[in-house]
Amino acid sequence: MNILILGSGGREHSLAWAIQQNPKCDKLIVAPGNAGIAQMCDCADINILDGDAVASFSEENAIDFVIVGPEAPLAVGVADRLRDAGLLVFGPSQAAAALEASKSFTKAICDAANAPTAGYGHFTDADAARAYIRANGAPIVVKADGLAAGKGVIVAMTEAEALAAIDDMFDGSFGDAGAEVVIEEFMDGEEASFFVLCDGKTVLPVGTAQDHKRVGDGDTGPNTGGMGAYSPAPVMTDAVTQKALDEIIQPCMDEMAKRGTPFEGVLFVGLMIKDGQPRLVEYNVRFGDPECQTLMMRLGGQVLDLLQACAEHRLSEMNVNWADDHAITIVMAANGYPGSYEKGSVINGLDALAEDSMNMTFHAGTAEKDGQIVAVGGRVLAVTARGDNLSEARDRAYAMTKQIDWAGGFYRNDIGWRAL
Ligand code: AMP
Ligand code: GLY
Repeated sequence: MNILILGSGGREHSLAWAIQQNPKCDKLIVAPGNAGIAQMCDCADINILDGDAVASFSEENAIDFVIVGPEAPLAVGVADRLRDAGLLVFGPSQAAAALEASKSFTKAICDAANAPTAGYGHFTDADAARAYIRANGAPIVVKADGLAAGKGVIVAMTEAEALAAIDDMFDGSFGDAGAEVVIEEFMDGEEASFFVLCDGKTVLPVGTAQDHKRVGDGDTGPNTGGMGAYSPAPVMTDAVTQKALDEIIQPCMDEMAKRGTPFEGVLFVGLMIKDGQPRLVEYNVRFGDPECQTLMMRLGGQVLDLLQACAEHRLSEMNVNWADDHAITIVMAANGYPGSYEKGSVINGLDALAEDSMNMTFHAGTAEKDGQIVAVGGRVLAVTARGDNLSEARDRAYAMTKQIDWAGGFYRNDIGWRAL
């Protein structure tokens, strides 16, 4: 089978790494990829937001299966374009990708499915939004309706902060994403990410993880795309997992199918858990990054069979064979991230690192220049290790970070603290 993966992050490096272990994988190409991916397979410089370009590249290269990594191509309908061209695709349609691209859409689906989530109001008018905030008080959560690259959510601890967020969003600082807002009840509890495959009908769990969104140790500083993750998430007990499936996920997937827009792909379910009761925080329509790296470490080559079965609507035939262990990812980011950061600093020491089923350094924002690996993005490396327990995995991963010689980067020292 000839496979094309779209994306260039640590998520896509880990997907490529796992998929290449499956004997069914004949040829693997990642577009656009990064320097780490280029060490294991071909990379192709195509615009992955251009469905026509991806379709013709796939035809020219006899691709059998396209796996879409990030949300942006999904939100503009690249998966639909590829399906129209007769390709087998892993990734939801543009209509189903609205579960990530529009917060008000997801809230409406939850309402129809009777799924537990935060109470909310949906506004296109700033005065009405302000009145709702004054009536409900703080803490309260203000969200831009559309995709805002992870910056569209303000968890306001005071009414003044919430009102300021409304001013910002209606002043256009979030672009079109801010012309509509969802204002939500603040939920407290412990967050976890639950990943399930859905083929439009059958839901198959593929793992749980916990992310670390803040840039600094002790969960301080601004939000990032994620500074580290571990899997499994201990808060996701069997009982919580079953409730999330029965009360939230299956009813929402049934509602999507009923509307004629079945969801086909991986659903990243952000949950808030309190007193054993999960409530939905958000859906994303792709694997999380860096959560994916921990899942791929534990799933290995079978992930290709699972993603293919999902795309072929055969999930009801499938089982997931879990490695009964733990994985952790430490993200190394460029100094300054998530603000402006320097590009071009050289990373040494990567060649000496172990790369096997227990230890992998996945690349994100890297490029090769004059035979050296240089940093070209905010999140640059995802140092990942497995262990029989989380502390063993953590010690192994931190030992690897110490072998990496990169003056231009930093990482959090406390990934996994909540579970440990
Ligand atoms: P989202 O982009 O919707 O995942 O929101 C980003 C983060 O904001 C979440 O991971 C939560 O930590 C927080 N958040 C979002 N919605 C709520 C809510 N209703 N109550 C408390 N925290 C929230
Ligand atoms: N790590 C969070 C995300 O991928 O959205």
